[in-house]
Amino acid sequence: MRVIILQSKLEASNFAANIIGKCISDKEKAVLGLATGGSTILTYEALIKKYKQKQISFKSVTTFNLDEYVGLSPNHPQSYRHYMNNQFFDHIDINYKNVFIPECFDDDYLATCEKYESTIKRRGGIDIQLLGIGTNGHIGFNEPTSSLNSRTRVKTLTQSTIENNSRFFKENETQPSLAITMGIGTIMEAKQILLLGIGQHKSKAIAEVIEGPVTSFFPGTVLQQHKNAIVVVDKHAASDLKLYDYYIHTEEMNQKYMC
Ligand code: F6R
Repeated sequence: MRVIILQSKLEASNFAANIIGKCISDKEKAVLGLATGGSTILTYEALIKKYKQKQISFKSVTTFNLDEYVGLSPNHPQSYRHYMNNQFFDHIDINYKNVFIPECFDDDYLATCEKYESTIKRRGGIDIQLLGIGTNGHIGFNEPTSSLNSRTRVKTLTQSTIENNSRFFKENETQPSLAITMGIGTIMEAKQILLLGIGQHKSKAIAEVIEGPVTSFFPGTVLQQHKNAIVVVDKHAASDLKLYDYYIHTEEMNQKYMC
């Protein structure tokens, strides 16, 4: 696991956008796994900037989002489809036919989830999976105790996730308690994983992901077993790392000898 500690959320997000941008430039038909939430917003902004400056094009890019709430229509302001269109897709040249979000419109959740898995495979698998981290350790909506081999399925959200995300919903607005999410096994098949940790409130989760024991009780810890996982954090999110100085030193060595 590579740990990159940067001074600000802007630097961390630009770093993430550079990795994604390089993947898009290097690969003819890049396949991206995407996340919603607060942590990724600046990364999308940086990618939009690259597109507007004609550094990259999304014409041949395919995207798969990690998750979607059950029971929200695509144009509901809190649906992840709406978030992605608003924050990212409506500002770039992506072909909407190449955008996949695990939505179910006919109540056949099993078929929806199986189709999502087979579509990812048919498109050649995910080249880079962008992730945020829940304060309870979830990646996607794989809540604590999710099987480390799980596949795309419906998950019941924990009370802490519902509370954390309630800030996005209006008072008295019904907030879903179920979501369809890629499984941990699905996420782990991505060729590269890029987890973003932004802000002081993520410091404990980040320390656990990097330095804690691998356990389904804190799903993000599974990334320690991925052969190409990068955790990019700002200094606030890094503040509980026991080996803080070691990660800084290692990255200096990487810059010196590997670039
Ligand atoms: C979002 C997702 C979640 C978030 C996580 C962090 O698609 O799958 O796992 O990445 O809840 O959310 P923020 O970034 O809002 O703190």
